[in-house]
Parts: sequence; C-alpha cells; structure tokens
Amino acid sequence: MSPSKSLLIGAIGLLASVEASTIPNSRSNQHKSGYTSSLIATQFGMVFDAPVTIGNQSFQLLVDTGSSDTYVMQDGFTCIDSTENMVIPQDECLYSNKTYHKSRSHRHVPGEMFGIEYGAGIASGEMAYEDVSLNGLSVKGQKVAIANVSTPMGDKGVNSGLLGLAYPALSSAHPANHTNNETYWYDRMAYDPVLFTMQQNGLIDPYFSLALARTPQNASRGFGGYLTLGGLPPVKHSSKFSSVPVKILDSIPKNITSGLHARAYWASTVSSVSYGPSSGGKLKTNSTSFKFFLDSGNYIQYLPSAIANPINDLFDPPAKYVEGYEGFVVDCSAKTPKFGLTLGNQTFFHNGRDLIYQTDDGTCISNIAPSESVPLLKQLDINILGVPFLKNVVAVFDFGENEMRFAKRLESNMTTSGSSGSSGSATPTPSFSSGTKSIQKISWIETVLASAVFAAGTMVF
Ligand SMILES: *[C@@H]1O[C@H](CO)[C@@H](O)[C@H](O)[C@H]1NC(C)=O
Ligand SMILES: *[C@@H]1O[C@H](CO)[C@@H](O)[C@H](O)[C@H]1NC(C)=O
Ligand SMILES: *[C@@H]1O[C@H](CO)[C@@H](O)[C@H](O)[C@H]1NC(C)=O
Ligand SMILES: *[C@@H]1O[C@H](CO)[C@@H](O)[C@H](O)[C@H]1NC(C)=O
Ligand SMILES: *[C@@H]1O[C@H](CO)[C@@H](O)[C@H](O)[C@H]1NC(C)=O
Ligand SMILES: *[C@@H]1O[C@H](CO)[C@@H](O)[C@H](O)[C@H]1NC(C)=O
Ligand SMILES: *[C@@H]1O[C@H](CO)[C@@H](O)[C@H](O)[C@H]1NC(C)=O
Ligand SMILES: *[C@@H]1O[C@H](CO)[C@@H](O)[C@H](O)[C@H]1NC(C)=O
Ligand SMILES: *[C@@H]1O[C@H](CO)[C@@H](O)[C@H](O)[C@H]1NC(C)=O
Ligand SMILES: *[C@@H]1O[C@H](CO)[C@@H](O)[C@H](O)[C@H]1NC(C)=O
Repeated sequence: MSPSKSLLIGAIGLLASVEASTIPNSRSNQHKSGYTSSLIATQFGMVFDAPVTIGNQSFQLLVDTGSSDTYVMQDGFTCIDSTENMVIPQDECLYSNKTYHKSRSHRHVPGEMFGIEYGAGIASGEMAYEDVSLNGLSVKGQKVAIANVSTPMGDKGVNSGLLGLAYPALSSAHPANHTNNETYWYDRMAYDPVLFTMQQNGLIDPYFSLALARTPQNASRGFGGYLTLGGLPPVKHSSKFSSVPVKILDSIPKNITSGLHARAYWASTVSSVSYGPSSGGKLKTNSTSFKFFLDSGNYIQYLPSAIANPINDLFDPPAKYVEGYEGFVVDCSAKTPKFGLTLGNQTFFHNGRDLIYQTDDGTCISNIAPSESVPLLKQLDINILGVPFLKNVVAVFDFGENEMRFAKRLESNMTTSGSSGSSGSATPTPSFSSGTKSIQKISWIETVLASAVFAAGTMVF
C-alpha cells in the first residue's frame, strides 16, 4: 500500500521521554503496557494536542483520528485567509510560534507534494522523510508533511500542526504537479502514516488508545488525558470492552481514497440511542442504527436530526436552533439530558458536562447538531462522534483487528492528574450563564461551528 515502504530505514529503538512512559510493550502483558503521552486540552476542551518530535524539534500536534497525515508548519509559512484568499499575518493562523526548520535528517520526497482540505481549512507544502518520535518511540525516514501554506487552523498558540491517526487510504500526498488547491481530495498517493510504520517496524502492536480528560467548563486550557500506543492509557475503566468492526464506507467515492476500496475513517455503526430528561422521565430508545466515524478532531457530534433535535429539546432550558449556522445555542448552566449510545453490546452514556461547550466569549453551544444540516453528511448518510463521546470512554483503535473497542471510564473527572496544563480540582460548575446575550454574539459561534465541521475530516467533494 505504501510506495515509501522500501525507503523507510527502520526504527532506532526507544528514546526516553519525560512525558512518555517507557514500559515496554509485550503481548503477554499488553493490557497494562504501551507507550503513553499526556495531552494538552485547548480551546475550552475542544482540541487535544500531543507532543511529537520531528527531526530534532519538538512540537504539540492536534490528535486527529479523522485524518491520516502528520503535518507541521514550517518557518516563515504563509497564512492565508480562508474566504478572501488574502495573505494575512502568520500569527492569525493561530499556530504556536514554534515552527519547523530543516534538520539534518530532512529529505525531500521527490515527485510529491502535500495538500489537504479539512472542514476547518487548507494546508499545503512538501512531503519529506523525517525522523519522528512519539511517546518515546522513534521512526527514521517517516513520510511527513512540512506545510508552508495554511489557513487559520491552530489553537491560539499551542499546536504547530496535526497528528493524523486514521488509515493510509486517507493520506493526502499528491504528484508534485498537483497545484489546484480545490482538488486536494483527489489524486492522492497513499502512504503509511506514522503509527502504521511503527507497527511494521515491530515497535508496537497494531493499536492505539485515547482517554480524553474533561477540563472545567470555563478553563481554556488544561490537562487533556492520554494517548497510548500499543496499550491502554493509565486511567480507571471497566474491564468490559465492547467492540465494533471498522467499516469501509461505500458512500465515499474511491477517487478520494487513492482508488482503493479500503478502510479510511474509523467508521462503524451505532445500533441504538437512548435519551431522556436530566431527572425523572423515562428514557426513550431509538433502535434505528446509523453509520458514524469517530473523530477526535471534532468536538461537535453530528447525529440524525431525529435524534439530535429531541435531545437538544431536553436541555432545561431547551437549546435553541439558530438558523444560518445550523447549530444549537444553550444556556451555560442548563440542565443536561441523559444521552447514551449503544455500540456493540454496551450503552455508553455521556456525562452531562460534555454536552455543553463554553466558547471564548462565554457563550455556550450544544455539541449535538443534526447531520442533515451539513449537506455533505446528508449526502453521504454519515454521522460523526467526537470529543464528547471520547471523554467518557477508553477508546481503542485497532488497525490489526480492524475494530474499535470501548470501555466505560470509572474515573470520570480526570482533570487532576497528568503533567501538562492546569491541575485544579474538577469543577463541574458552570459559573456563568449567557442567557439571551449569547444570540448577539453569533458571528463568533458561526465561525467556530463552521470550522468544527469535520474539524479534521477530509470529505468534501
Ligand atoms: C489556493 O489557490 C489560489 C489560486 O492559486 C490562491 O490564490 C490561494 O491563496 C490558495 N489558497 C490556499 C489556502 O492555498
Ligand atoms: C513565542 O511566543 C511566546 C508566547 O507568546 C513568546 O514568549 C516568545 O517570545 C515567542 N517566541 C518567538 C521566537 O517569537
Ligand atoms: C536541529 O538541527 C539543525 C541542523 O543541524 C540545527 O541548525 C538546529 O540548531 C537543531 N535544532 C535543535 C533544536 O537542536
Ligand atoms: C511552498 O513550498 C513549495 C515547494 O515545496 C513551493 O513550490 C511553494 O512556492 C511554496 N509556497 C510558499 C507560499 O512559500
Ligand atoms: C501531472 O503529471 C502527470 C504525469 O506526467 C500527468 O498525467 C498529470 O495529468 C499531471 N497532472 C496535472 C494536474 O498537471
Ligand atoms: C460483549 O462484547 C465483547 C467484545 O466483543 C465480548 O468480549 C463480550 O463477551 C460480550 N459480552 C456479552 C455479555 O455478550
Ligand atoms: C469522483 O467520483 C465521484 C463518484 O464516483 C464522481 O461523481 C466525481 O465526479 C469524481 N470526481 C473526480 C474529481 O474525479
Ligand atoms: C429513529 O431515528 C431515525 C434516524 O436514525 C429516524 O429516522 C426515526 O424517525 C427515529 N424514530 C423515532 C421514533 O424517533
Ligand atoms: C466528579 O464529578 C461529580 C459531578 O459530576 C462530583 O459529584 C464528584 O464529586 C466528582 N468526583 C471527584 C473525585 O472529583
Ligand atoms: C471558573 O469557574 C470557577 C467556579 O465558579 C471559578 O472559581 C474560577 O475562577 C473560574 N475560572 C476562570 C478561568 O474563569
């Protein structure tokens, strides 16, 4: 599958890292082991960044199960406004000011370029072979993207790019003569993303896991949880895992997956949904199954409107649909509905605190929105689960068995441990309520919602 495989040199063994546990992985002990890093939560718990070393330089990169490339912004990159195509100051791209400069291990990949379009924007640049270290494991000559052009996609100065954790078929290298930035979904040359290379080099078993942490509603940054390679994260969870197969989405045209009929997104099926009022009242169950993909780069969950609308009505006071941006605004201190998703043989309920996001200006939005409001999702008959769900489970992404496994978290307030960010006690207290004020500030929300749509999935045709 990977044209680059023969050029990959192989692993150089383990680099110790302060942020990574270095307990070696072994099949006999695989549930306790693996290679872990602590994440940083930014943007009020919407975005999660992991430490990654490229060449000799370390960066925070957005952890994205909804795409497959790892890109880092290069020194002197050009920031382009996404609507007018105007060059704007670099800091308006919102990335960290830590950018990549060519190291001695950098080698240009001849005949290729990088170009990608996410829901949130566009990035492009060169494909390069570089040494990549993640969670204490290193790969020499991994294909990565070094971006010299981007629209604003950073998180106010923490991350410098993105770590793509989906399948090879979604990777977005192109022939070097691909200059049209409106067709980055097509004409792709698939390669193996970093975790696939690590597995082929025998560094890890073929899976990774996520346990995202919950930050207080009004905290812009904090400890973000864990990403573990070839093992499970160090959080308390039920010993019972539910599993679902990773599916090939037939609705996605093959011309965006390098012509391959292959797994691309972490996609599967929700078999039923249960919801009801915060207290009292009976739970309703809708047992019509629907397809989804799981996207750690997306903090809004897009569900069938027949599910999303009644759940938004069950906030107290109810969340209000706002025309024009296809999302729901909600009182920051609203009582939240009960909401569970059945995946495999278990139903996973959301902690109510994960159903409301406070934005920068104090306005709150519901993170459940109707898929039908996004033409593309409607067209493809697909839904998105993301950050809210992931805060309630240990999620295992297994590209060996091609399945996802989920276990309930027992320590649901994981805001106190870890090495990065704030370590205050869990504060389940929405301290301010925006009420009607929120509606006046819609333009900001509009921007947020627009950029949240596939905040990192590549699927606009
Ligand atoms: C896309 O291409 C157009 C036309 O060449 C150019 O003006 C624009 O800056 C490019 N935008 C990005 C984000 O690459
Ligand atoms: C990067 O940003 C930080 C914080 O904003 C600032 O302290 C530092 O001086 C900046 N570094 C460079 C090289 O501009
Ligand atoms: C990385 O390597 C380059 C080239 O060898 C060197 O100029 C630079 O100072 C190094 N950077 C770090 C952070 O070690
Ligand atoms: C980005 O890098 C590519 C080569 O990798 C080059 O062709 C292009 O001109 C550069 N664009 C900008 C805006 O620096
Ligand atoms: C790029 O080059 C290849 C091989 O010469 C050619 O088939 C293809 O049409 C070219 N693509 C573009 C966008 O020019
Ligand atoms: C639930 O599914 C898991 C994973 O497929 C399986 O190991 C377990 O036996 C199932 N439990 C029940 C009660 O069916
Ligand atoms: C990609 O495939 C779809 C469905 O097969 C087709 O409608 C579309 O025109 C194709 N796009 C390109 C750019 O090839
Ligand atoms: C259940 O959800 C489906 C969409 O997944 C919808 O078509 C159907 O109308 C819903 N049923 C009820 C009773 O709400
Ligand atoms: C966890 O959060 C709940 C409220 O959701 C609170 O009642 C409980 O005390 C918290 N537990 C810890 C250990 O902070
Ligand atoms: C967040 O809310 C808590 C509880 O009301 C308050 O103590 C804290 O100062 C607030 N923090 C920020 C950053 O506003």
